[in-house]
Amino acid sequence: MQRSIMNTVQLTFVSTLLTLLVLCSCLDNGLVRTPPMGWMTWQRYRCNIDCKNDPDNCISENLIKSMADKMANSGWRDLGYVYLCIDDCWSLKKRDSTGRLQADPERFPSGIKNLANYVHSKGLKLGIYGDMGNYTCGGYPGTTLETIKIDAETFASWEVDMLKFDGCYSTSEEQALGYPKMSEALNATGRPILYSCSWPAYQGGLPPKVNYTLLGNICNMWRNYDDIQDSWDSVLTIIQWYAKNQPVLQPAAGPGGWNDPDMLITGDFGLSFEQSKVQLAIWAILAAPFIMSNDLRTISQEAKYLLQNRLLIYINQDSLGKQGALISKVNSLWVWKRELVNGQYAVAVMNSGTDGLPKPYTTSLGLLNITDCSDGYKLYDVFEKEYLGLFKSGTTINMKINPTGVILSFIRPIC
Ligand SMILES: *[C@@H]1O[C@H](CO)[C@@H](O)[C@H](O)[C@H]1NC(C)=O
Ligand SMILES: *[C@@H]1O[C@H](CO)[C@@H](O)[C@H](O)[C@H]1NC(C)=O
Ligand SMILES: *[C@@H]1O[C@H](CO)[C@@H](O)[C@H](O)[C@H]1NC(C)=O
Ligand SMILES: *[C@@H]1O[C@H](CO)[C@@H](O)[C@H](O)[C@H]1NC(C)=O
Repeated sequence: MQRSIMNTVQLTFVSTLLTLLVLCSCLDNGLVRTPPMGWMTWQRYRCNIDCKNDPDNCISENLIKSMADKMANSGWRDLGYVYLCIDDCWSLKKRDSTGRLQADPERFPSGIKNLANYVHSKGLKLGIYGDMGNYTCGGYPGTTLETIKIDAETFASWEVDMLKFDGCYSTSEEQALGYPKMSEALNATGRPILYSCSWPAYQGGLPPKVNYTLLGNICNMWRNYDDIQDSWDSVLTIIQWYAKNQPVLQPAAGPGGWNDPDMLITGDFGLSFEQSKVQLAIWAILAAPFIMSNDLRTISQEAKYLLQNRLLIYINQDSLGKQGALISKVNSLWVWKRELVNGQYAVAVMNSGTDGLPKPYTTSLGLLNITDCSDGYKLYDVFEKEYLGLFKSGTTINMKINPTGVILSFIRPIC
């Protein structure tokens, strides 16, 4: 008995190692061994620079500081939401006399360095935005091949912890040179800076134009596909794209480098409660970054309740770091499965249908191929926060999934 347990442990260990080896050859800056979590300006605040008329919601140090306070004081940071990221439209339209990017002094009167100090004092990390190209997407100074080095040094001197590097106003040739060059330049600063690359999204997200081996070597995360918008349509389109292309995307992800289907919009205007669960469940299955873009000052209790669900976060942050996949789709029922550490699993059954009746779905662990532990598994409903009981391979599992809704199960072996 003892020996067979040992063997199982060793086998599990060896297979875990093998899994890690085949997963990805990832950027080695020690960062994001699990998907990054945090908050970003873009989806909710866009390029709102009108601080005169909209002082509470314009891209400014006020906005960032007020989010930092919320992240630190309302439980977010302690659950892992630590990256606080400024997206486009933070700078002046001109570089300074020494050729450096400079923050708009009206909206960032203390400067980015002081803002970073403030963010760090709250136990958080600061993200900033740049663009490989002549201009940022919002028309601010871009980072050309010639200014990559100085910009990397500027960000490091401000003690920034993350760079989202967009790709507007550049050719594919410039991108092919610029994205690796920025990775080297960040590394050369000596400061570990999470490097988020929008490159693949500008190249259609797929081989042969996108080389995921190369991306894994130079970036910590990468946007594969279109920007998210505040709507269910947008969420569903993104989910469909990741499902369709999972044979390419799944092996690209792993500790240190993640596919990024874009920001979480729970707490904004476009999703119902059920639809918010869908985005969160599928993003957790996909081992996607949990970067919110919402208003933490006014967020509803419901949205907060979803985003702060510990078991959901546990699944998203699983240390095996293996992206899950769609394993079956029958009509509007999509079944997703993610293998987790220690023989655990997450299964999301999503109903994309809009006909009003909750859809019945019957399965078993055997049918889901979750059979390694013959003594059975404990099942939990993640969003209901409910223990459903002990299930063996053949035990029937009955569910009813709401229209544009999901049931996310966490499955733990008792072996
Ligand atoms: C960037 O600017 C250079 C110099 O003005 C110009 O030649 C080039 O066409 C521009 N590239 C893009 C992609 O707009
Ligand atoms: C730079 O790259 C080397 C080699 O991959 C790595 O060991 C080191 O941690 C990196 N340093 C930073 C600051 O990213
Ligand atoms: C992709 O990039 C890797 C790492 O740089 C390289 O070894 C490989 O040849 C590239 N693959 C293709 C098809 O270009
Ligand atoms: C379970 O595994 C079998 C055999 O490997 C495979 O044919 C089947 O598609 C799998 N089913 C699911 C739901 O993964």
